[in-house]
This record gives sequence, C-alpha cells and structure tokens, in this order.
Amino acid sequence: MRAQRIGRRAVLSGLGAGLVLASPGNGTTAGSKPIGLRAIAASRGLAYGAALGLRSVDEDQALADAYTRECAVLVPEGDAKWAGLRPAAGVFRFDGLDRLLGIADRHGQSVRGHTLLWHEALPAWVPEALRAGQGYDILSDHIFTVVGRYRGRIPVWDVVNEAVAPDEGREDGLRPTPWLRALGPRCLDLAFKAARAADPGAVLMLNDHDLEYASPLQDRRRRAVLRLLETLLARGVPVDGLGLQSHLRIGRPFDPRILHRFIGEVAGLGLMVMITELDVGDAAVTGDIPTRDQAVADHASAFLDTVLDHACVKAVTCWGLSDRQSWLHHHPAGWRPDGQPMRPLPLDVELRPKPLWQALADAFRNAPKRSSAAWMPG
Ligand code: XIL
Repeated sequence: MRAQRIGRRAVLSGLGAGLVLASPGNGTTAGSKPIGLRAIAASRGLAYGAALGLRSVDEDQALADAYTRECAVLVPEGDAKWAGLRPAAGVFRFDGLDRLLGIADRHGQSVRGHTLLWHEALPAWVPEALRAGQGYDILSDHIFTVVGRYRGRIPVWDVVNEAVAPDEGREDGLRPTPWLRALGPRCLDLAFKAARAADPGAVLMLNDHDLEYASPLQDRRRRAVLRLLETLLARGVPVDGLGLQSHLRIGRPFDPRILHRFIGEVAGLGLMVMITELDVGDAAVTGDIPTRDQAVADHASAFLDTVLDHACVKAVTCWGLSDRQSWLHHHPAGWRPDGQPMRPLPLDVELRPKPLWQALADAFRNAPKRSSAAWMPG
C-alpha cells in the first residue's frame, strides 16, 4: 500500500493546493484504488457518511460512485421527512426512501433516518389535522408505519429534530412548534416511545443545531438541551443519543473546552453522540480558493479533534458530500458577501478531495480507537 498524504503545511505552501487539484484520488491510495473516508473512519471504530438527496445522484454516476467510496452511512436529505413521505392524510409515499435503502444495501451502507418530529417540511394538511385535534393519532400512526416498515433496516433514527429554542418564550426552553402547541411537551415522549415500540432495536436520537460555539445563545441552547435530555430520561423516555448538527461557520467563537465539557455532560447521562450535519460556512473568509478551503479545513480540524476525543462520539455525517449539492446554495445562510458559492463540503464541484476531506481523514486517524457500534456496517 502506498500512502500518499497531503499535509496541511504542503497545502498552505501553494504547491500542495496544486497537488490536491491534480489528484483525482483521495490523497491516500491502496494500489490504484482510492481509500475513502468510510474506511479511514472504520479503522477507528467510527462511522462516516453524508446526507443524500436522490435527485443529486440520479443523473450523476460520478457523484454516486463518490458516495459509495466515501460513505458508510447515508442520510435521506428529504425523503424521510413528512413532506417527502406524506403527500396527503392517510397516504404514504415510500418510493424515495425505498430507493435510498436499495442503494445502501447494494453498497454495504447503513442508513440514519431523518426525521420523525420536526416543525419544518410539514405538508399543509398536518397543521390542519393538528388544529382538528388529531395530533396524537397522526403522529403515532406516522411513526409506527414508517419506523415499522423499516424495522431492522434503518438502525438509527433522528426521532426529534430541533426541539429547543430557549429564546422563544417558554420557561422549559422548548421550541413552540405546531406539534408542541397541539400536544404539549409529551409529543416528544410520544415520538420516542412510538419509535421504540415500532423498532425496539433502533438507536433513537434527539438532533439539534447551534450547540457548538461559545456564544451566550449557544450556551443557553446547550443548557436547554441538557435539561430536556435529563427530563426525558427521568420520565423513562427511550432516547439513546444526541445529534449535534454542526453547521459550522467560520468567525463564530469556538472554545474547545466548552464543547468538550458539554459532550462530557451528555455522555454522563449515558447517551451516545453523533455529528449529524457537518458543513462549514466561510462567508467571513476573504481570499482565493486555496485560502478559503484551508480556513474551512482548519476550522473543522479544531472542531473534530475536540469532539472525537470523546469515545461516546460514534459517527460523523456531513450534510452532503460535494460542493455540487450543498443546501447552503439555496439558503440565506449560504450567501457570501462576494457572491461566490460556498465550499462547505469535503469534495469540490469536480469531486476532488479538498483540504476539508484531508482534515476529516486526519481527525479520524488521530481519534482514539473506540468499539464500533452494532448498527455500523461491517
Ligand atoms: C435541509 C435540506 O438540506 C434542504 O434540501 C431542504 O430544503 C431543507 O432542509 N437542519 C436539518 C436538515 O435538520 O433537515 C435541513 O435539511 C438542514 C438544517
């Protein structure tokens, strides 16, 4: 095996940037076959993967191949949301999710389901049903049907997405969503309990955003999440882990000690942690592409070294794999003052590995080895 590693210093020198651009492989090869992040992560007992919108690979075989090479885990970017699954009351449309499962099966990949209870991506009939007092029935029916259909095949579910919003007026720090207004905080209990009943073997996650930085707001968000997890566990609600979305943004205040302590507190509750939606926004960085890409990689390195130090962190998934397909291209959070597209993901638009790819590879290689979880692909 010939290991060709492109170090951060070499990339900074400019020569390395040329090397990265000229290298169609991954900077690491086994014979002539490039080694993907999935293999590097697996060697440390970690699962690496990315969100996948099926449309992005339908007519893009090169991107599909990149997913096969790089990812042990696929996360449906939209196909498992209510908007994807539920065109009308009483109607389930499983074709997208079935297809994604088929891809995962063919390539020995695992799937993390995303997501069962969220205030976004709701078809118009849902708020109507909630106003009509049908919240309990539609939520339990949805979760029993969806999780039950994929019982034993989707080993991890983001059951609840984005549950806290401590500045939105509730004393308990919970986000006042249409679900919460209709059912109260017990909608969270219902979601987790229904998921456990529908697939007793699945790992059930609470997934939330803006928990990574040292700002006062994110501090309040961390407190709210910890309080929620403690409350749920005290009520006997079956929650197994916390997902940190990790939509990182260069320029926000990062303090590794604060994040490290927070993950330690989550682990102290007996929970596992996953990095679920990693990408890096570089709106605050000026300069040429190599400068920007290096800043993205450096920011991610500091973050990854901090989180992977904890053995409770079992998986890292990015929100997309290539800069071809980031959600940030269609979201205000993705705008740069110079109008250039964001470069938030490990592969560039030509599917070449970027310094962020190398940062992930280095962080995985340097991570303490952990026992891989039963749900991870072999
Ligand atoms: C985003 C998708 O990437 C977009 O394609 C879609 O239009 C909106 O949702 N946090 C989440 C994800 O938990 O589900 C969101 O995904 C991104 C923010």
